[in-house]
Amino acid sequence: MRHLMSPLDFTPEELDRLFDLANDIEHNPAKYAHACDGKILATCFYEPSTRTRLSFESAMIRLGGRVLGFSDAASSSASKGESVSDTIRIISCYADICAMRHPKEGAPMVASEKSHIPVINAGDGGHQHPTQTLTDLLTIRSLKGRLHSFTIGLCGDLKFGRTVHSLIGALIRYANVQFVFISPEELRVPDYITELLREKNIPFREVIRLEEVMPDLDLLYMTRVQKERFFNEEDYVRLKDFYILNAAKLELARKDMLVLHPLPRVNEISVEVDEDPRAAYFKQAQYGVYVRMALILTLLESCR
Ligand code: CP
Repeated sequence: MRHLMSPLDFTPEELDRLFDLANDIEHNPAKYAHACDGKILATCFYEPSTRTRLSFESAMIRLGGRVLGFSDAASSSASKGESVSDTIRIISCYADICAMRHPKEGAPMVASEKSHIPVINAGDGGHQHPTQTLTDLLTIRSLKGRLHSFTIGLCGDLKFGRTVHSLIGALIRYANVQFVFISPEELRVPDYITELLREKNIPFREVIRLEEVMPDLDLLYMTRVQKERFFNEEDYVRLKDFYILNAAKLELARKDMLVLHPLPRVNEISVEVDEDPRAAYFKQAQYGVYVRMALILTLLESCR
């Protein structure tokens, strides 16, 4: 039985098979409409979510299965002090697979150690967000046709952004990927990541101004400055609108650059950008359903 804690839990070859399956699901949905008849997905969300929770639920329903769960720790027995380990033992009695989001780094890992069903890390604190990374990789592969040989700019909150940390970790396994980290000094990508890139001789640059690097990018991955991870309001207010991508800035970009964003956005992408053909973030959310369908099938298969 397999769990998913990090995108690195899958080899690049396994990821290729997962993405092939996701693309097949996209083009032949009827073929998979009863693939999970009789199966139950539990969504245990101790932190707010729109996309991850609902796309998992949509994925399971589209596969013919059913869903149960909670969307708020306050409505679960965590509010009475129940541990994640005890909760997953109980969930294992009620469901066949579980997607868990938790504010504490490592909580889904702790759950997986006591679980009798596959556990999927649906985001743990500022650490990892593997299913967002699978979504990002599927989007890039589907729209660019490859997962190698490009320059990606990651912009915004690179310090706390778990989607960024997961995506960098996944992309370093592909050839000729160059990174440009665009952030204010206070929100720089953590040292452990830059050290890893140096160790592996993977080219990267760190800059503050987005305009300076825009013409060099094949992909621009925008991120939200995450209010919930700041220790004081003053710092958040000072940094929250540091980057706002608008039509004028997009003029500097290549005609085939793609703009990605894990969403939700606040102000970092102006709504006028939504109409630009390079804006791929809503398509990205759609790919999130296909890849989660493929993931559910793959992990349930591992239980046979
Ligand atoms: N991208 C993402 O994780 O969105 P939610 O927080 O809405 O799930």
